Amino acid sequence: MSKSSTERKAVEVSIEHVSKSFGTQEVIHDVSFQVCAGETFVIMGPSGAGKSVLLKSIIGLIQPTQGKIFIDHLNASVPETHREVVTSMVFQAGALFNSLSVFDNLALYPREHLLYDKDTLEDKVMTVLKALSLEQAVNKFPSELSGGMRKRVSIARSLMMEPQLLLYDEPTSELDPIMAATISELIATLNEEFNVTSIVVSHDRELAMSIGQRVALMVDGRIQALDIPSKLATMDDPVVQNFLHPVIDVQNPRFRKQDF
Ligand SMILES: Nc1ncnc2c1ncn2[C@@H]1O[C@H](COP(=O)(O)OP(=O)(O)O)[C@@H](O)[C@H]1O
Ligand SMILES: [Mg+2]
Repeated sequence: MSKSSTERKAVEVSIEHVSKSFGTQEVIHDVSFQVCAGETFVIMGPSGAGKSVLLKSIIGLIQPTQGKIFIDHLNASVPETHREVVTSMVFQAGALFNSLSVFDNLALYPREHLLYDKDTLEDKVMTVLKALSLEQAVNKFPSELSGGMRKRVSIARSLMMEPQLLLYDEPTSELDPIMAATISELIATLNEEFNVTSIVVSHDRELAMSIGQRVALMVDGRIQALDIPSKLATMDDPVVQNFLHPVIDVQNPRFRKQDF
């Protein structure tokens, strides 16, 4: 049985020597780190680094080939753990139900789990929508919303579960810089307001360095560096500096106009 919301608390996550292979390709190599209860922890890194695979391993969608992941000392690979601890993931594509209104998208999980009576459910949906400035969108359908609003609705839907652990996969991808900044602020604010542990996966350096209480840089399936943003920014590691400050060389022949 999962605990009632008043008993719930943020959880800690411990990743211990995790490796993951698909066939003969090892995409995560011996990764270990801990995320503290209530922390906003960011895993940043280039595309293909293994960030999503690691996130899916935490939620139990992917089983590590080696090593273990614990959520408050419970094994993340075991389905019972995800009945005991309320974990919610905001997927990259949002994964909203297009045939359902914003209200019904948010109400789906609580209705399926018979969590609240009708009035309480309405109150909860409106409270969450208000926290995300989405009250006006309550009766709209996903196709009628902008990219930023859809992203906020998928975060709102995750919050309806009153999660103890909230995972975000590329929450600012496909958003313009202003909306990306708004979503980043929102993630940081919600972490405090809803007393949740947040793990955010992103290739967005600005998001990582602004909202991460600690940030891990993942490159080629390994944790290249892990520290608080100010320490990471001054780290004397060329891989870290290269990721944080990529050099664009317009003289590079790759970028020259081709003769046809
Ligand atoms: N289900 C899968 N089967 C085979 N290979 C996969 C699968 N999921 C991810 N990969 C591979 O694992 C590597 C890491 O992917 P991913 O975690 O999605 O990277 P990213 O850091 O961009 O999120 C990539 O090479 C990808 O092709
Ligand atoms: Mg990914």
